[in-house]
Amino acid sequence: MLETEVLIIGSGIAGATAALQLASNPKRSIVLITREMDPLESNTRYAQGGIVSRNSGDDEEALVRDMITAGAGATDPKMARLLAKEGPPLVDSILVEKAGVKFDRGEEGEFDWGKEAAHSRRRILHVGDGTGKAIARGLIEALNKCPNVKIIPNTTAVDLITVPHHSRDPLATYREMACFGAYAFDQQEKTIHRFVSKATVLATGGLGRIYRNTTNPPGSRGDGIAMANRARVRIVNTEYVQFHPTALAVPGEERFLVSEAVRGEGGILLTPDGSPFMEKYSPEWKDLAPRHIVARAIHHEMEANGFSYVLLDIATHMPAEDIRARFPNIYEACIKAGIDITSDPIPVVPAAHYACGGVLADEWGRTSIKGLYAVGEVSCTGLHGANRLASTSLLEGLLWGNRTAEHIDKNLDSGNRPDTPAADSFPRWDESGLEEDVDPTLIHGDMQTIQNIMWHYVGLVRSADRLSRAIRELRHLWNEIETFYRSTKLSDGLIGLRNAVEVALIVARAASHNRHSRGCHYRQDSVELEGDRLI
Ligand code: SIN
Repeated sequence: MLETEVLIIGSGIAGATAALQLASNPKRSIVLITREMDPLESNTRYAQGGIVSRNSGDDEEALVRDMITAGAGATDPKMARLLAKEGPPLVDSILVEKAGVKFDRGEEGEFDWGKEAAHSRRRILHVGDGTGKAIARGLIEALNKCPNVKIIPNTTAVDLITVPHHSRDPLATYREMACFGAYAFDQQEKTIHRFVSKATVLATGGLGRIYRNTTNPPGSRGDGIAMANRARVRIVNTEYVQFHPTALAVPGEERFLVSEAVRGEGGILLTPDGSPFMEKYSPEWKDLAPRHIVARAIHHEMEANGFSYVLLDIATHMPAEDIRARFPNIYEACIKAGIDITSDPIPVVPAAHYACGGVLADEWGRTSIKGLYAVGEVSCTGLHGANRLASTSLLEGLLWGNRTAEHIDKNLDSGNRPDTPAADSFPRWDESGLEEDVDPTLIHGDMQTIQNIMWHYVGLVRSADRLSRAIRELRHLWNEIETFYRSTKLSDGLIGLRNAVEVALIVARAASHNRHSRGCHYRQDSVELEGDRLI
């Protein structure tokens, strides 16, 4: 058992920022756990395009307007305003000053502001096309210098510890629900530890890996959403899964992200025979339309014409030298796949990219149960509405990591909190009687089944028939996996599989329940809304 004041689950920008900001109070003790061996490994690390900030001549309301437009009417303006006002100063005070991130600058030393889809201005800071990696490195290096932060890798959170559920006190039933840490699996010792805390921060990232094609790394299995769901925490908007329009299409290979910044710098989408097509779908924005519009346009071109990909041409629009300097990682990844992007167009397809929904959180990251906070992609504050504006996710992680730290620090010692039960009053994890090791083939096979169901039936284009088929098949799989889970020794893969099927069901049910197309939730059989009523 390990006791700490604050337990943070996840080491991406949101979790790392929360830890760093809390650590500035030397009285605080913070434990950050991650399932990865290297805390640098997270969704953040794979962010290419950059982070929204404030360029001279830009104003807060312009960013708010762009977010609301991209969010297809479901963005909470209060949250968008918070991000536009408080986010950019944190880029300087945390990322530049504390984490030492060196964003690209021009010859005169001014920032090199980038542009991406649906932004009305150039307002995106970047480090080449490896912005997330530079940010992750800076934050983890800064955290390593904090004596009051303990980072514990190879540790997979299994379930939240909540009262009354895990309380032995019968009177706890009458108290407000609260979270006091998590059970987590030590991958090396192959055992479960209790991490007991006064405040717990979920920062586990997204769920892209429940889809066959995704830009997300293997850890994005929806772990945080599944844990929150089992603890009866409120979860919203999960039908809004954003598909990135342009992932590198190489048969048999993972879908490497080809940043939207490529189109921001002039790249144009073409059919395989070389014809531009975006004007047809969005005369106003063309190739820089909001993501859900571009992703669906590509999907439509592919379905209607039998293409297995479309092309993204940057070679015609940017000198070779500039392409290599601005997009070094994309250039290298494409060279490995046999494509020289300084002369040839890039074959691309859409891929699952970002969860706009998640664990409902307020402006301080508070969830529907006491003591539990959610930050970054696992959370849903309403900021992204039904479709996220490009390059706002890193800023969201930074802002909510900071606000959550502020809220925890101010309230941890106040009387306005549920009493923390004695740490050893929470039951130990009981694995007695479980002798059988997991069969990796079953885990792999079931995971692929989930990914295929989600891709075909809960993908870019949905319908009642597809969704009810998905729910039926996922329910059957859920039962199988739950039986397997209860009769086999734990492993990280089994924990992930159990979470993946649970989250897949949550997404499929939300998509089935919401019969109205909006943003990245598109239904062929959409029901029109009149006022607030479904008709
Ligand atoms: C990209 O570089 O296209 C991804 C940025 C984002 O997801 O906001």
